[in-house]
Amino acid sequence: MKSFRAIFSLLRNYKSSLIWNFFFNVLNAIFSLFTFLSVVPFLYVLFDVNQGSSAVPKGASGIWGAIQLELDELILTIGKGEVLLLMCVFIVVLALMKNTVNYISLLSIARIRTGVSRDLRRDMYAKVLRLPLTFFSNEKKGDLISRMTNDLNEIEFSVIGALEALLKSPVMILISIATLLYMSWELTLFAFVFLPISGYLISRIAKSLKNAAKRSKNNLGELIALLDESLTGMRVIKVFNAEPHFQAKFDETNQGYSKLMHKLYKREYLASPMSEFISLLVISVLLYVGGTIVFGGELSGEMLIGYLVVFSQIIQPAKQFSDAIFKVNKGMASLERIREVLFAEETVTDSEVALSLKHFNEKISFENVGFKYEEQNVLSNINFEIMKGQTVALVGSSGSGKTTLAMLLARFYNPTEGEIRVDGQSLSLTTIYSWRHELGMVTQDALLFNDSIKNNIILNEPFNEEQLHLAATISNSMEFILELEHGFETNIGDGGMRLSGGQRQRLSIARAIYKNPSVLILDEATSALDTQSEKYVQDAIAKTMENRTALVIAHRLSTIQQADLILVLKDGEIVQRGNHKALISQEGLYKTLVEMQEL
Ligand SMILES: Nc1ncnc2c1ncn2[C@@H]1O[C@H](COP(=O)(O)OP(=O)(O)OP(=O)(O)O)[C@@H](O)[C@H]1O
Ligand SMILES: [Mg+2]
Repeated sequence: MKSFRAIFSLLRNYKSSLIWNFFFNVLNAIFSLFTFLSVVPFLYVLFDVNQGSSAVPKGASGIWGAIQLELDELILTIGKGEVLLLMCVFIVVLALMKNTVNYISLLSIARIRTGVSRDLRRDMYAKVLRLPLTFFSNEKKGDLISRMTNDLNEIEFSVIGALEALLKSPVMILISIATLLYMSWELTLFAFVFLPISGYLISRIAKSLKNAAKRSKNNLGELIALLDESLTGMRVIKVFNAEPHFQAKFDETNQGYSKLMHKLYKREYLASPMSEFISLLVISVLLYVGGTIVFGGELSGEMLIGYLVVFSQIIQPAKQFSDAIFKVNKGMASLERIREVLFAEETVTDSEVALSLKHFNEKISFENVGFKYEEQNVLSNINFEIMKGQTVALVGSSGSGKTTLAMLLARFYNPTEGEIRVDGQSLSLTTIYSWRHELGMVTQDALLFNDSIKNNIILNEPFNEEQLHLAATISNSMEFILELEHGFETNIGDGGMRLSGGQRQRLSIARAIYKNPSVLILDEATSALDTQSEKYVQDAIAKTMENRTALVIAHRLSTIQQADLILVLKDGEIVQRGNHKALISQEGLYKTLVEMQEL
């Protein structure tokens, strides 16, 4: 029931298409029935003409009797052959109408089908952009990609694909059943004994199908995650000769996936033969019971044949319907996986009373801030202020919590204790957009996109050539950019892989400068840089910090000697504070760190 509600919520924007579809389905069902019912008078013309109205069965005198009277009269006036021809033409016209109507109803399905997957894709992407960073450190990137591609496809092909049958078959079946009841209610009752049996079988298989489908989709997500990881870490895999290890890991998951899929297909393929067999069983029973009634003279032979023809018209939609139920169940597994993302908790959102920050113009203060990712405290008792125009530097050994503190300021996470205030206004009561509007950030791992240098620098800001050149100059990027064949238009490849490590960092600094933010967060990465490019980067950082409110994380302590305030972090707590001059003149962690670097 819950799953059907989930499907209907997908369809909520397509009500008019659904109504049109329903309307044309009803027409389609009626035309098909007429096409096949015309077999009764047809048989009558062929075989029964001389018996006259004596063959009219009991209890069915109304319409059938009238039709037979009409036919008798027609045969008398224009002749048997002509009536036959007329009936064939009648059937062709009916068939044409039925198929036209069918096509129109399919067109509305096509609309729903493409629309629903487009909507879901859009919702998924929008949600991914809104999700907190914790989500991405807990879930595998590849699995998320798999949900957005494989599971979405599965929904388009299974759930929405089955929609046609789900909407059309019941109409067809109901209208046929009504006709059957009208033709002979006794026979129809016999046929219905089988309904609960097939219903039970179908629901049993469908349920197990859904479970298997969910496991297989999780498995496929694992596979994509592994592929994604391998592509990112290709250099490590190669140089460590780790290919066999990764191949084995992949093979294991792949084997598991294929086993599950095999199981799935075994069940899915059962749908068609099973329903066909059941239908045949029912037809045999009807033939026997119906034949006996005909022998007793309660029903005419052509009427029984007509009845069976109409009944056989139920078989196809019934088969399609049970197929569709199987498909929907298979697709529901994917829909569940997509909904897990769509309804994932957004921990970092604007509160209802959040105010937008007009303009940053006084100070940022950390008040008793504490933070934990899981159980362990990563930051505790953090108290300090950054006055407008000042530079505050964070130093400390690896893992002491520097990057985490910077991320709290960017509000990637909310503090688990205490408060960060901007001009006295709590950050948790400030709209995220208005605060990030004031921010520029250079992350520890220079994050670049597969695009031109120019677009990587301007990203989301309006284009201004002068500003672009200024940002490139301050960040010491100008020189290497101009050496590239296409200059600012050069495409830098996936993640900026066509650039050196130092060039990537300088570009990400240029991007932060181009935005000209009122508050700058700099997380310097010095690993992977040779002395010269490190100097370039440090020089770029020093120039960027001038006259700017900045929170700087520096691994090279020479970079931050000019900082107004240096905070020394150890195990998530501030153990020393002051400017360079004050800190170097006292015994403590700062002095030790500086001495270690001078060596
Ligand atoms: N997403 C995460 N989930 C759980 N723990 C995390 C996560 N990110 C960081 N940590 C933990 O938080 C602590 C602080 O990490 P952080 O990245 O802030 O250190 P850092 O001072 O920036 O180190 P470095 O100088 O090496 O960059 C570390 O012990 C780390 O294991
Ligand atoms: Mg760090």
